[in-house]
Amino acid sequence: MRRKLVAGNWKMNGSRAALAELDAIAAAAAAAPGIDVAVAVPFTLITAAAERTPALAIGAEDVHEADSGAHTGCVSAAMVKEAGAGFTIVGHSERRADQHETSHDAWAKAAAAHRQGLNVILCCGETEAERDADRAERVVQAQIEKSVPDNADGSWFTLAYEPRWAIGTGRTPTLEEIASIHAIARSKLKTLIGDRAAGVRILYGGSVTGANAATILATDNVDGALVGGASLTAAKFVPIIEAAASL
Ligand code: 13P
Repeated sequence: MRRKLVAGNWKMNGSRAALAELDAIAAAAAAAPGIDVAVAVPFTLITAAAERTPALAIGAEDVHEADSGAHTGCVSAAMVKEAGAGFTIVGHSERRADQHETSHDAWAKAAAAHRQGLNVILCCGETEAERDADRAERVVQAQIEKSVPDNADGSWFTLAYEPRWAIGTGRTPTLEEIASIHAIARSKLKTLIGDRAAGVRILYGGSVTGANAATILATDNVDGALVGGASLTAAKFVPIIEAAASL
């Protein structure tokens, strides 16, 4: 009932020349009609990416929580939508760390994106210190409680569990650890939004590669992957799409 979603996040990488990678990614997505494929790119590349590969879902990596106003340097959900984005990531751990964003900010950004008709991938995940202190479950539960909008449902809303210590490090949690957090996330969603929780996809993110994608994606309650480094080239991203499509 929940289609797998393989989403790339280019972060502060890419250029117009790098958009050529999207051609093979779009071709792999077209060859995998049973799953969804999406790529979030820097604001400056959204329009060119959307025009180059219209069949591929192109998104933003962040939006401001206000619809417009005096916020120098920020970009609103309406702006990224007009630029060609169909979705946005919010609450990424790099923004929580670098821009001091909170779960409340992620909530407000998710709501702003939904007001403009964008789909949302909302991120949560513990730090290494929190996991070492045995607090991963509580941290993720609290993030979900503070950031998931009341009207969230699977038609527009996706959750991504990205343990910070697994991002860009080549380290991943065990499959048991991933299954455990995803089950806890699903049950927390159920307490917040009831039966609609069953339709919300929960992605895993953090050092996903073509080599580990198949086992991670086959884990209970893992409905897809949010991929950073391995989404930058078709050579690395397409095997992840193919792994998801083969399940
Ligand atoms: P990596 O796949 O590079 O670990 O990044 C994961 C991530 O942060 C995606 O949002």
